[in-house]
Amino acid sequence: MQGFLWGGRFAGGPADAMFALSVSTQFDWRLAPDDIAGSLAHAAALHRAGLLTEDELATMTQALRQMGDEIVDGSLQPAPGDEDVHGALERILTERVGTELGGRLRAGRSRNDQIATLIRRWLRREIRALTVDLLGVVVALQNRARRYPSAIMPGRTHMQSAQPVLLAHQLLAHAWPLTRDIERFRDLDARLAISPYGSAALAGSSLGQDPEQVAHDLGFQASVANSIDGTSARDLISEAAYVLAQIGVDLSRLSEDVIVWTTPEFGFAKLDDAWSTGSSIMPQKKNPDVAELARGKAGRLIGNLAGLLATFKGLPTAYDRDLQEDKEPLFDGVDQLHVLLPAVAGLVATLTFDEERLAQAAPLGFSLATDMADWLVRQGVPFASAHDITGRAVRYCEAHGLGLDELDDDQLNQIDPALRPQVREVLTVEGSVASRNARGGTAPVQVAAQLSELDALVSAA
Ligand code: ARG
Repeated sequence: MQGFLWGGRFAGGPADAMFALSVSTQFDWRLAPDDIAGSLAHAAALHRAGLLTEDELATMTQALRQMGDEIVDGSLQPAPGDEDVHGALERILTERVGTELGGRLRAGRSRNDQIATLIRRWLRREIRALTVDLLGVVVALQNRARRYPSAIMPGRTHMQSAQPVLLAHQLLAHAWPLTRDIERFRDLDARLAISPYGSAALAGSSLGQDPEQVAHDLGFQASVANSIDGTSARDLISEAAYVLAQIGVDLSRLSEDVIVWTTPEFGFAKLDDAWSTGSSIMPQKKNPDVAELARGKAGRLIGNLAGLLATFKGLPTAYDRDLQEDKEPLFDGVDQLHVLLPAVAGLVATLTFDEERLAQAAPLGFSLATDMADWLVRQGVPFASAHDITGRAVRYCEAHGLGLDELDDDQLNQIDPALRPQVREVLTVEGSVASRNARGGTAPVQVAAQLSELDALVSAA
C-alpha cells in the first residue's frame, strides 16, 4: 500500500471515499521542510540511542538532505496515493534508502508528535515574517504622521464631532494596536518554543531518545513536560488564530476611517490611483477596495478562530483526527495577512490629506465646547457648573446660527457673567490642541514624543 504507514492489521487499502476524506497532502505539504528537519533530528536521536549505526545515520541524513533540497526547488511532490506529508516523505525515503533502513526512522515517534512539532516550528517562522509585514504598516502610519505634523482634524466619538485632534495623533492611534499585535506574537513565540517531539503517540517513547536534545536541534527552547499535552494541545493554534483575527480587526478599524475620510462628503483624504479601483460603469468612481477587503477579511479571520475553537471543544483527551482540521484555517489566516498587510501599508503610505478641509471641519459641531468649560474651571468654576454654562452657550449659538468663538461680549455675559471676553482666547483649534499637553495628549510636542516612542519600539522589534 503506497504511502500508508500501516498494513499488517489490514486486509486491504482504504475505500476511495475514505481516502478522499482523509488525504491532507494538498495542504500539509507546506510543512515538508519542517518534517525533514524533524526527521534529521530524530535520526540523530535514534543514533545516540544506539538504534542506528554511524553508517546508517550518514546514509539516512544524506537522503533526507537531498529530499529537503528537492522540496525547496519544487521537484519533490507527494504522489496521489500519499495520505499526508509524513507518509509521503517516509515512502520517498524508503524508496531511496531501501525498506530495511527507511523502516527504522519511524521508531519511537508518531505522526501525532510529528505534526504537533512541525506546526509549531512552521508557525514560529511565519509569525516572524508577519511581524515584518506589521512593521510595514506601523512605519507607513508614522511616515504619514511625519508628513502632516501640524494638520488638525475633527476628532469624533460616537462618530459625532468631539474635540479637535492632530491628524498625526489619529493616525498613530492605529499604530499602537499593531505594536501590541507584534507583542502578542512575541509572547506566543515563547509558548511555541516548546517541542512535542518524543511524545510519540501520546505516552512518550520507550526507545531512549532524548526529547530535550531533539528540541534544541530543531531550534526549540525545551521539550514538553507532558506527552499527552504535547500531542493533543492545540490552544497555541487558536491563540495564533486569535492574534491573526485581532490584526484583521485592527486593520479593519483603520480601513473604516479611510473609507469614511475618502468619501466626497468628508473629503479629508484622497486615495492614490495605484491603491484604489474604478467602476466598470460609473466613470467618476475611485473605490477604497483595499480598505474594504481588509474589513471583509477581518470577518474571515474571525471565522477561522471561531471554527478552530468549535473544533477543539469537547475532544476526548489525546490525539483525535479532528485535529487535522486545524491546519487549513491557520494556513488561510497567515496567507491572507501576508497578502493584506503589504496592501494596507501601500494604501496608508500613499494617502494624501486635504489639510485645508480638515482645518475647516475641525471647529464644526462646537468641538471647542470642552475648551470653554475647561477655561471656566481654570477661573474657579466647578466643572459641573462650567459644563452647564457651556451647554447653554452651545444652545444659544445653535439657535442663533453662531460659532462659540463668534459670541460678542454682551452675548457671553448674557449667557453667564462668568463668561468674560478672555474666554475667546481659548476658542481656537490650535489653542485647543496645544493645551492637551500631558503625556498621551494631542499637543504637537506630545505627538512628537509619541513618534519617538514608536521609533524605539520599531527598531527593537
Ligand atoms: N494528518 C494528521 C494531522 O494533521 C497527522 C497526524 C495523524 N495521526 C494519526 N494518528 N492519524 O493531524
